[in-house]
Amino acid sequence: MSPRASAALPGSAAVKALTIRRPDDWHLHLRDGAALAAVLPFTATRFARAIVMPNLRPAVTTTAQALEYRRRILAALPAQLRFEPLMTLYLTDDTPPAEVERARSSGCIFGFKLYPAGATTHSDDGVTDVRHIAPVLERMAELGVVLQVHGEVTDPAVDVFDREARFIERTLAPLVERLPKLRVVFEHITTRAAVEFVLASHAGVAATVTPQHLLMNRNALFAGGIRPHHYCAPVLKAEAERAALLGAVAGGSGRFFLGTDSAPHARRAKESACGCAGVFSAHAGIELYAEAFEAAGALDRLEGFAAVHGADFYGLPRNTATITLVREPWEVPEHYPFGADELVPLRAGERVHWRIA
Ligand code: NCD
Ligand code: ZN
Repeated sequence: MSPRASAALPGSAAVKALTIRRPDDWHLHLRDGAALAAVLPFTATRFARAIVMPNLRPAVTTTAQALEYRRRILAALPAQLRFEPLMTLYLTDDTPPAEVERARSSGCIFGFKLYPAGATTHSDDGVTDVRHIAPVLERMAELGVVLQVHGEVTDPAVDVFDREARFIERTLAPLVERLPKLRVVFEHITTRAAVEFVLASHAGVAATVTPQHLLMNRNALFAGGIRPHHYCAPVLKAEAERAALLGAVAGGSGRFFLGTDSAPHARRAKESACGCAGVFSAHAGIELYAEAFEAAGALDRLEGFAAVHGADFYGLPRNTATITLVREPWEVPEHYPFGADELVPLRAGERVHWRIA
């Protein structure tokens, strides 16, 4: 199916509406309890499926825990919405290789997430050195189970803007070379170095890209003052890096697909002397990408990125239902309810230029 646009050819500035296959979100944080109930409807309204990240406290490290978490997600889903959570397990230094088999035969678990210990929110139990999980990674390569990677070194001596590039050199490139059959999703890439690494790697290596890294550069962290709601991990990068990412997704390569990394945190955890990393974008999770692709003159490439490349990579069927996006600005609320707290969404109090019909 090719996207159907009214009023003009896709890719041109005059497109007013765009119908695409229902998209999937290949990198999402749903949290648990009241927070889960607060954010899940935003995703389930837009996306058919999502890879649900396992960085809860305690982390989701076993198949049994993931199946329980999946049940809680489905129980929190409003009755009128259809949504399939795709689970992934949190790798630790102690993950046993047998967990790979258990996860795979569950039919509900679609990967293992590698958080370098200390790299981001709730990553303290992550992997301290990939050598510690070598037997697990070998089993994953044998069974075709996907490794999802938070690709940043944690060495505090490395400049925060260089941590992704150093991770490629120090960890990811050697890993992909040592295990050429391992299927890898380089999550939320932010740099030209990552784009080039993915394109130069074998076909089993792909990447997700967030809306914030396509739409904003690091100036957005300091626009008129410090902007905690634009702070995420990996941090926003320089304009040349943003341009490289946008060029990559607009180029239409099947190696790149949608992963919002929507990561809700309570307002007071963000607006703090040491604010948490995470941008909440699920309230406009496909609309923001439409803006980015429109700006790149590549609306005709949105469907592949949002609804085809990820499903194909994970070996899952493409969605057959469709959604229609219309070019009609709307104002994002200043905040949404978030349990007993408030959640400040991306673009709070400002406009998003596309909406779902
Ligand atoms: C994520 C979170 O809050 O869980 N934060 C973020 O800035 N992206 C963790 C992560 O994906 O790194
Ligand atoms: Zn994430």
